Amino acid sequence: MNPCTKIPRQDFLRYAGVGSASLLTAAVALRSSAQAAPGPRPERSAPNLEIELRPSPTEVSLLSGRPTRVWSYRGKVLAGDPSSLQALPGSYLGPIIRVRRGQSIRVHLINGIEQPTIIHWHGLHVPARMDGHPRYAIAPGQRFVYDFEVTNRAGTYWYHPHPDMLTGPQAYYGMAGLFLVSDDEERALNLPSGEYDVPLVIQDRTFDAGNQLIYLEGAGMIGQMIGFLGDRILVNGHPDFVLPVATRAYRLRLLNGSNSRIYKLAWSDGTPMTIIATDGGLLEHPVRRAYVTLAPAERVELWADFSRHQVGSELVLQSLPFSGTMSTGGMGGMMGGGMMGGGMMGGGFSGGQALPDGAEFPVLTVRVARRETEARTLPARLSTFSRYRLEDAVNRDHPRRFYLAMQAMRWGINGREFQMTAVASDEIVKLGTQEVWELVNDASRAMMAAMAHPIHIHNLQFQVLARESTRDAEEASRTLGGGFLDGGWKDTVLVLPGQRVRLLLKFQDYTGLYLYHCHNLEHEDMGMMRNYLVQR
Ligand code: C2O
Ligand code: CU
Ligand code: CU
Repeated sequence: MNPCTKIPRQDFLRYAGVGSASLLTAAVALRSSAQAAPGPRPERSAPNLEIELRPSPTEVSLLSGRPTRVWSYRGKVLAGDPSSLQALPGSYLGPIIRVRRGQSIRVHLINGIEQPTIIHWHGLHVPARMDGHPRYAIAPGQRFVYDFEVTNRAGTYWYHPHPDMLTGPQAYYGMAGLFLVSDDEERALNLPSGEYDVPLVIQDRTFDAGNQLIYLEGAGMIGQMIGFLGDRILVNGHPDFVLPVATRAYRLRLLNGSNSRIYKLAWSDGTPMTIIATDGGLLEHPVRRAYVTLAPAERVELWADFSRHQVGSELVLQSLPFSGTMSTGGMGGMMGGGMMGGGMMGGGFSGGQALPDGAEFPVLTVRVARRETEARTLPARLSTFSRYRLEDAVNRDHPRRFYLAMQAMRWGINGREFQMTAVASDEIVKLGTQEVWELVNDASRAMMAAMAHPIHIHNLQFQVLARESTRDAEEASRTLGGGFLDGGWKDTVLVLPGQRVRLLLKFQDYTGLYLYHCHNLEHEDMGMMRNYLVQR
């Protein structure tokens, strides 16, 4: 019997900060120790890369003055190429893991924090046992061993915690890292590499006067429902990030590693963004956009050529204003009734942040620091992959539908919230089949509030078949719609209020329980997450 199920989820969440986590930790640890299982016996052939990742409390100097207490993945190569791990000195981010497609890897996760945790490999196609489902969370001091082969295309993937109800705080306090896969197709393109291949993890944080991180403190239930929005933008763990570049072409890999914030990214001089890859790797052709909409967990790779810039000049990557991602519907009345105490603005709610949802702000500064002549041209063709077809979906006439909505002040999917191993009859799919799924963010039906939800599906990369907007989506889709990259492989897709998005997905190779959920981490922790089961 699970001792935790009787405690409402939001009561846990209220205690989810590092400073006040003990109650939460104790309660969740009980649940977790009952379900923790040892890692798999190393029965496969010897891996060609073996590493250790140990999330641990530590301190980093982020602001002038006192260092900031964080949780950070510390990495070590136990066997294999030592350059497979690249630490980011001075950052709380975990080491960048670099692998080749086809490599088999073993990862020892050793829990060095005071809460249960587990690692999920975001975007990777791995057996269910290796996917970091919350039911595999390990107690403090315990070890979980992952063994899997990297079968994904070259691309920018990432890893982060996935324990039940604690993903938001653990990611926020620093637990996240990049997982970069390369392959032959990518190598043949001869894209900028080494120091010209720059990972950029974008996150927002709030610090107190003593330089310590604040997570949702005093934000109450409305804070949970909106999600965390910080008042400082950090890149690779650093505020006021400056990227010195030479006058040549770069490959910039952007990850939105924020808990909830959506970015509308554009160059300050009006140069269009040149996108070469999305969540699941290279696009077929480079795509140009005035701006890129990047929701939590999404990645894009940019081609950025600074060869025509003057040495000494600067360029800012900024987030442009947008609106319509939150609407209160009937909730305005309830909230006006004193439930949330302020923060209401017009038709939306802001929670009173310094940088509300949709604000305009700089993300990072590119400083052109030196002249270099290296004429590299952007390949016109990047990759070749096949398009899934609706005709091949076993449910082509009856898309599997998922309503994203709020019920009783909690976000859910089809009116349900996460339960550790529960799967409903409409959440079971057949191995080897292709399906069409429809994510419905029905703002008009929303009795309470509607919000944009970045929906993530584990175990696969999908293709976006169609995106339809109703009148409720007008504003959001006018201010954000031009930045969607629906043509590439995706594992996370932003569904605006009033939109329905249809996906084509294929369930291959592995059976078992996988997750799908909102990657607004506060929504996820609140229970906007479900299992789906792949079976034979
Ligand atoms: Cu990036 Cu289930 O998560
Ligand atoms: Cu994932
Ligand atoms: Cu959500």
